[in-house]
Amino acid sequence: MASILLIGPGAIGATLAAWLCQDDRHQVAVAARTPFESLEVQTPQGVIHAKPRVFTEPAQLKPVDWVLVTTKAYDSDAAALWFPNAVSGRTRVAIIQNGVEHLARFDQHLARERLVPVMIDLPADRVAPGKSIQRGPAKIVVPAGQNGADFLALFAHTNFDGTQTDDFTTALWRKLCLNSAGAVSAVLLKGAGISHHDGVAELMRSIVRECIAVGRAEGATLADSIPDEIVAGARRAPKTTENSMVADRRVGRPMEIDTRNGVIVRLGRKHGIPAPMNALMVALLQAAQAE
Ligand SMILES: NC(=O)c1ccc[n+]([C@@H]2O[C@H](COP(=O)([O-])OP(=O)(O)OC[C@H]3O[C@@H](n4cnc5c(N)ncnc54)[C@H](OP(=O)(O)O)[C@@H]3O)[C@@H](O)[C@H]2O)c1
Repeated sequence: MASILLIGPGAIGATLAAWLCQDDRHQVAVAARTPFESLEVQTPQGVIHAKPRVFTEPAQLKPVDWVLVTTKAYDSDAAALWFPNAVSGRTRVAIIQNGVEHLARFDQHLARERLVPVMIDLPADRVAPGKSIQRGPAKIVVPAGQNGADFLALFAHTNFDGTQTDDFTTALWRKLCLNSAGAVSAVLLKGAGISHHDGVAELMRSIVRECIAVGRAEGATLADSIPDEIVAGARRAPKTTENSMVADRRVGRPMEIDTRNGVIVRLGRKHGIPAPMNALMVALLQAAQAE
């Protein structure tokens, strides 16, 4: 049995918490900024319900075996305010966020050997506090090793596709390639259908090529074919499919601009690799967010 505290019950967090609650070997609690009565998640397998304990104050917590952080990346420091009460010598902390800087976001709060970075592919939308929609299958990738294996074991009862890899850097940068291209949709407030416009498709490829160049400098192995694959994938998707930056912009929530595009500009600068298309996306999205 594992005691688990999930911090950040939004689209991803509510979905993961509800699935984990289906395994009665786990004792699942949720640390929420906005409280809710119970979880309700529409999954491809049907609706699942759960009623974990919901905490709204760090002082209410006791140490657990696992902390799972599923806030947006820009809320990482706020998420870490739960650690002093939830984390003891035995606790491991899984960082389930987008981007490539999972460890850097949290290593001022905890020793790196306690942190488990997680790459997640799980299309999900938040509907209301405690309510989410899982729109497709879930894939989680962790670094090879005991921490990764123990994290995947938490999901043994689910149909999540969990894998360990010796090359986690590549897994993160491959996902960032996809996410970086999503900025165009966020700028235009349009779904994946805009990729059918040849000019937009070429802009997406340019953004991804910059991501590949910087990712390679950071040690990732990224094929030249990725930009075309990403455009082809966007063109295969239903035209109205929207990424989470579009969803965030629509409802006035901050977007993960730095996590998905700013990081390419910042790390590019470190390696002397220009990333003007990503810089353009950052400028436009920051301006849109400031409105
Ligand atoms: N959604 C997807 O399809 C998807 C897919 C793959 C990866 N990701 C990544 O997964 C991460 C989470 O994304 P998401 O879409 O699940 O975000 P989200 O729907 O915005 O959920 C974030 C949750 O964190 C909560 N939160 C913020 N600060 C908190 C704090 N200090 N303590 C407790 N809870 C706090 C928010 O509370 P409020 O309810 O008060 O706002 C919200 O419930 C992001 O890095 C994202 O890029 C998302």
